[in-house]
Amino acid sequence: MLTIRDNLEGVSGEMLKAFNVAADFCNGRTPEQYARAFANSVVRLAYDGDKLVGMARAVTDGVRCATIFDVCVAPAYRGRGIGKALMRSLKDGLPGQFVALICEDDLRGFYADAGFVPDMRVTMIVPD
Ligand SMILES: CC(C)(COP(=O)(O)OP(=O)(O)OC[C@H]1O[C@@H](n2cnc3c(N)ncnc32)[C@H](O)[C@@H]1OP(=O)(O)O)[C@@H](O)C(=O)NCCC(=O)NCCS
Repeated sequence: MLTIRDNLEGVSGEMLKAFNVAADFCNGRTPEQYARAFANSVVRLAYDGDKLVGMARAVTDGVRCATIFDVCVAPAYRGRGIGKALMRSLKDGLPGQFVALICEDDLRGFYADAGFVPDMRVTMIVPD
C-alpha cells in the first residue's frame, strides 16, 4: 500500500543518495549533503510498504515563501500517480505560501495536475 510520510525517520543520507543515483537523478551531492538538505526542508517521502519509492522537498521561510526541489519517483513506480500525490501533499503542507519551482517544459502538465500554474516571468538563477 502506498503511504506518504512527512519525516525522515529511518532515512539516512546514504539512502537518499542511493535512491537518486538509481533514478539517474543525482547531481553529485554526498550522502551527508543529501541528509543536511532534506533535514533543512519540509519533506514528503512515498513508500510502498517499507520501500522508499518517491520523494520531494521544499525549502521555506515558514511564513510566505517556499521553493520545491528534488522531486523524484523510482523509475519502476512512475505513471501511477505517486508524483502527483507527493506534490499535492507538499503543497498542502505550505498553506498560504507563494510556492515556486523550476521544471522542464514537458513537465508543465504534471505540475499543473498538482495545482501549479505557469508563470511567464523570467527565472533568474545563480548557477551552482
Ligand atoms: C516527474 C516525476 C516525478 C513524475 O512522477 P510520476 O509518479 O510518474 O507522476 P504521476 O504518475 O503522478 O503523473 C502525473 C501526470 O504527469 C504526467 N507525467 C509524469 N511524468 C511526466 C514526464 N516526465 N513528462 C510528461 N508528463 C509526465 C503523467 O503522464 C501523468 O498524467 P496523467 O495523470 O494524465 O496520466 C517522475 O517522472 C520522475 O521522478 N522523473 C525524474 C525526475 C524529475 O524529472 N523530476 C522533476 C524535476 S523538476
